[in-house]
Amino acid sequence: MDKKIALVTGASRGIGRAVAAALAASGCHVLINYRSRQPEAAETLARIQHAGGSGELYPFDVADVAACGPAVAGIIQTHKRIDVLVNNAGIRHDSLMVFMPAEQWSQVIATNLNSFFNVTQPVVKQMALQRRGRIVTIASTAGQTGVEGQTNYAAAKAGVIGASKALAREVAKRGVTVNVLAPGFIETDMTAGLPRAPLLAQIPAGRFGQPEEVAAAAVFLCSEAAGYITGAVLNINGGVYT
Ligand code: NAI
Repeated sequence: MDKKIALVTGASRGIGRAVAAALAASGCHVLINYRSRQPEAAETLARIQHAGGSGELYPFDVADVAACGPAVAGIIQTHKRIDVLVNNAGIRHDSLMVFMPAEQWSQVIATNLNSFFNVTQPVVKQMALQRRGRIVTIASTAGQTGVEGQTNYAAAKAGVIGASKALAREVAKRGVTVNVLAPGFIETDMTAGLPRAPLLAQIPAGRFGQPEEVAAAAVFLCSEAAGYITGAVLNINGGVYT
């Protein structure tokens, strides 16, 4: 198979689903990771196939380091390479820090920050051997500005920005780029319950973004044309001040 192999974590819905679809449309064979939402992940795959693309499902929990190594090894055994990794899977579990149990802190750090290590480490080893690869991680405006109620989430998102910048330097000579997308408010299940009016007042563009607008930027950063862009953080936030 000549297609590039692209792994997208948390691709059962939202931004991950849109990224998976856009990468497939750009010619990648997309490995759709999910943890528990098999029917929704299968729907992502069905949409890709309906559009003439190809992919397959790869369930594993990105927060579980013991699961990620074998999962990535299985991908490499089957496909012999990984060309693109999009670290998208994430959760938020908000509360003011004074009321936050330790478990709430560590759960969000495990899923949004430790996952960066758990998945990227085995993938980047392979990319370094290939002397080619593209890694894109979805951070957030919250990791740039801080948001009250999100100390855990902001810490994790700031963490993946720092980790990506460091890794970008480590692997630049190997032809591997490592970049970050920092979305503001994007219309997905994650933002469905938020009060709209006060948030819209803070967004110069006057609207939430669409998952496809994040996906378009991911496809560009994963393209051959973006080979000299590494260690970058690209805001996709409608002009929100960072
Ligand atoms: P979502 O809640 O719609 O989707 C998150 C995806 O991650 C789901 O498919 C979920 O099953 C998966 N996931 C969660 N934990 C997982 C685990 N342990 N292992 C594997 N998969 C797991 O959220 P949305 O909005 O699509 O978010 C995607 C990414 O974008 C997240 O990292 C989020 O923090 C980030 N983001 C979202 C923004 C928004 O406004 N929606 C803004 C900024 C960043």
